[in-house]
Amino acid sequence: MGVPPPTGLIGVLLLLLVISPAVHSCPPSDLAALLAFKAALHEPYVGIFNSWAGTDCCHNWYGISCDQHSGRVADISLRGVSEEPLFRRAHRTGYMTGYISPAVCRLTRLSSLTVADWKGISGKIPRCITSLPFLRIIDLVGNRISGTIPADIGGLQRLTVLNVADNQISGGIPTSVTNLRGLMHLDLRNNRITGPLPKSVGRMRMLSRALVSGNQLSGTIPTSICGIYRLADADLSRNQITGPIPECVGRMGVLSTLNLDGNRLWGKIPESVFSSGISDLNLSRNGLSGTIPDVFGTRSYFTVLDLSYNHLKGGIPESVSRAAYIGHLDLSHNHLCGRIPGGPPFDHLEASSFVSNDCLCGRPLSPCS
Ligand SMILES: *[C@@H]1O[C@H](CO)[C@@H](O)[C@H](O)[C@H]1NC(C)=O
Repeated sequence: MGVPPPTGLIGVLLLLLVISPAVHSCPPSDLAALLAFKAALHEPYVGIFNSWAGTDCCHNWYGISCDQHSGRVADISLRGVSEEPLFRRAHRTGYMTGYISPAVCRLTRLSSLTVADWKGISGKIPRCITSLPFLRIIDLVGNRISGTIPADIGGLQRLTVLNVADNQISGGIPTSVTNLRGLMHLDLRNNRITGPLPKSVGRMRMLSRALVSGNQLSGTIPTSICGIYRLADADLSRNQITGPIPECVGRMGVLSTLNLDGNRLWGKIPESVFSSGISDLNLSRNGLSGTIPDVFGTRSYFTVLDLSYNHLKGGIPESVSRAAYIGHLDLSHNHLCGRIPGGPPFDHLEASSFVSNDCLCGRPLSPCS
């Protein structure tokens, strides 16, 4: 039952097996860059860096993976909230302080940089990351990172995800982001970002989620946004955005969530949004005026329709009862008047959906006289 001596093809395969670990091992320059990256961080509770020992950073270093072909470091994936055994053993989520060292920019084959939900990492986004041509994912959500988004971020031609939500980022949204033709997911929520949305946002043709709520953005909603065919989720809420809601948003292909609440929008609500594919619509706490258009129909399907805290007047249109579905409806704190229609969806709503209007009456409010 002896093993036949390696000959020909088998010999070549064995030889490859022997030399391949060398191909995958960590180049000294990447090793040095990762050690400098680690030196700028302090993770006291879980011990994620304990495995960062020896010289082969491509092998069993927590959160590090390398490219098969080049043997270079391709991914840094460090999440403070994780189901990994390390975290289960520590019985806690992660906490890390320090900053993201510009040494990461020496990892010139880096494809993803995820340093997320560590709550305590401060400092700035290193400017030099815009010189990493292979970068596809930047995910720094849930830290205390300050400073601005690098002005030349638009040079990252492969970028698909830019998530810096829940930090302390200030400054404006660089106009160059609109050069990110492959960007699919933009999440800047809950920072201190000021200034307008770039006029040419519509150039980001691949964008499916544009989440910028909870900042101090001003200016108007660029109509070019309607040209983003794949946009499914637009959250511009809790900013200082002004002007009217562009009519064209109600005709967008796949837009299903539109949150514009807590801004300074004025003018009429475009009729199109009530018979569009939008199913989650929050326009609460703006200065919207005019009437609720009588255009609801079988295409109107809303899990949320929140128009509260505006200046809407007139009655509740009868056509609302023809909507395919309305789950949560809030028309409170407007200047509406007249009888609340019967039937669905009105039969399951509470008075809170209608309170603080001028003269609404009927169930669930008091009877009309
Ligand atoms: C709509 O937005 C307002 C203001 O930001 C918020 O208070 C409310 O909870 C939102 N409505 C729904 C149904 O989520």
